[in-house]
Amino acid sequence: MGKVGKEIVELDVDGLVEELNKALADEWLAYMQYTSASKLVAHPSAVKELGEIAKEELEHADELTERIIQLGGKPIVDPKQYFEKTNCGYEIPTEDVVKVLKDSIKAEGCAIRVYNKIMKITEGKDLVTRQLMQHIMEEEINHEQRFENLLEWIK
Ligand SMILES: [Fe+2]
Ligand SMILES: [Fe+2]
Repeated sequence: MGKVGKEIVELDVDGLVEELNKALADEWLAYMQYTSASKLVAHPSAVKELGEIAKEELEHADELTERIIQLGGKPIVDPKQYFEKTNCGYEIPTEDVVKVLKDSIKAEGCAIRVYNKIMKITEGKDLVTRQLMQHIMEEEINHEQRFENLLEWIK
């Protein structure tokens, strides 16, 4: 990380990187869960929403990876670590669209709590990470709403 870029971060960088790596594990697992689910379910709207939202989870993984590197940390790159570090876990997708949507809503709720927590840790101490957390959290809130709407419509 650049010298001044590091100076302005007023908290334990190693601890922050660990939180960001745990969130990164969640994003990779959400991306895989939604991508696989989008191939298994038959409902066209669910296929579309799961596919689109999976792409946004992949973008979140990219954004977290870039921020970890800016902070001088090492992003996790070994998929075994996804399961060791995840906050939100992984639900094996099935062809049952109602179960898939319920699992997805649960994953989004977990992600919202994770980003809210990291926003509070970084508030006033690392504005760049804080801004990224808000950006990602807003998208997670949108995902939760979209999955809830779809479940309501399908049921
Ligand atoms: Fe995400
Ligand atoms: Fe999401």
